Amino acid sequence: MNYFPVFFDLDAQKVLVVGAGEVALRKVELLMRTGAAVTVVAPDIHPELMRRAGAGLIKLALREFVPEDLSGARLVIVATSHRALNRWIANLSESRGIPVNVVDDREASRFIVPAIVDRDPVLVAVATSGTSPVLARRLRERLEALIPKRIGEAALWLRSMRRTAKSQLRDIGARRRFFEAVVDGPAMRRFIDGDAQGARRIAQQLLSTSSTAPRAAGEVALVGAGPGDAELLTLKALRALQDADVILHDRLVSRSVLDMARRDAELICVGKAAGNLGSTQEQINQLLIEHASAGKRVVRLKGGDPFVFGRGGEELEALAAARINFSVVPGITAAAGCAAYAGIPLTHRDYAHSVSFVTGHADKTGKEPDWRALSAPGHTAVFYMGLARLEHIVARLLEHGASPTLPAGLIVQGTLPQQRVIVATLATLVKIAARAALESPALLVVGEVVALHESLAWFGMPKILDASQSA
Ligand SMILES: C[S@@+](CC[C@H](N)C(=O)[O-])C[C@H]1O[C@@H](n2cnc3c(N)ncnc32)[C@H](O)[C@@H]1O
Repeated sequence: MNYFPVFFDLDAQKVLVVGAGEVALRKVELLMRTGAAVTVVAPDIHPELMRRAGAGLIKLALREFVPEDLSGARLVIVATSHRALNRWIANLSESRGIPVNVVDDREASRFIVPAIVDRDPVLVAVATSGTSPVLARRLRERLEALIPKRIGEAALWLRSMRRTAKSQLRDIGARRRFFEAVVDGPAMRRFIDGDAQGARRIAQQLLSTSSTAPRAAGEVALVGAGPGDAELLTLKALRALQDADVILHDRLVSRSVLDMARRDAELICVGKAAGNLGSTQEQINQLLIEHASAGKRVVRLKGGDPFVFGRGGEELEALAAARINFSVVPGITAAAGCAAYAGIPLTHRDYAHSVSFVTGHADKTGKEPDWRALSAPGHTAVFYMGLARLEHIVARLLEHGASPTLPAGLIVQGTLPQQRVIVATLATLVKIAARAALESPALLVVGEVVALHESLAWFGMPKILDASQSA
């Protein structure tokens, strides 16, 4: 992170603006909303600034800047059209420890001014660390559309309830649950829709029941995180992440997905990583039960879909036995997500009428999958966890009648920016994969549909093609 985000209380504080054109005017308008004591220094002044000075709203010095202007300033904004002058003023401010922003000169600035959505007192700031003001503006526009117009009034209403809530609900957890019930429920919806009276009535009811209700029982949501791209989370998964007190996640869950969690949620990685055996299934079940029994809202977050090679069923059995409430939020399984991002339709009327999801892991009992069915024409076979046994899988398919020219592909780190797709045939895949030095996670897809990648690929890194195919 290049910048530390803060909101600066400038009420009655001196802010110096050097320059008085259109840009300076916009900054002054913004500063005035904070109650800052604005002083503008410039030999030529925008008429609107002149008017404000005439009305006593800002101070004006109709002359060139002099170093004494900096005295007492808490912030400096420089917006003249002379780069050398701007930099000189910036250096002087720096040497006196006064934070300075030079418009359109990130290098000379100690702070930058974000794009904002202003629903006073709610303020949403967006910055791209100065890399793209246009992108920041677009994001701001999207947020403008998303954030209700009355959210600022709603914030004031919530503040007005804090004292009563504190006196009626001694327990801090109960207070948080009360405010969450207001914010997430019909009370807030009514307030936003303009029915403040209805909103107050509902909040009052919630307050009186919260004070007598026993401590809420904890629960576990088994949530699918999808294959990696955080935007593939479902809305329910997002809500669960933002409500959770504790999140137990697998190693495969991407950082960008974890970033969606509530700031103060406890994140516990229970997955296996290189050099670390991770938690056993028994330990994970125990942790889930312990946290839920302590009244917490627990999310058990798994890559892809929790019911596809995810042991979700086993964990729910343990919760059911411990009489813990649970719910399941499905996720996009790796086969669906990776195939989509690789441009490989899993079924296609011309090439495949069925699809199997198979684990590439050896079965503990030594039982093998139905290789003949997986090798049949018109079928797509998707192998999870198949990289380590790639050679074995390919050999079994060939033995059971699959053609050596049958297209086969590997999708590595699917849906993520570093996604790689290797397309080959059963005859060539093992060799090409060995040359490509692949990292997990990887998904193996076998079937005629894999050849469609050639024409349907749309996402990610350059693909590695089997040279014999492209010849
Ligand atoms: C233990 S399984 C979990 C599957 C998960 N529950 C699901 O529905 O996708 C892990 C395997 O899923 C596949 N996988 C998961 N995410 C992937 C990704 N982003 N790219 C490629 N393969 C992935 C790999 O085969 C990996 O070895």
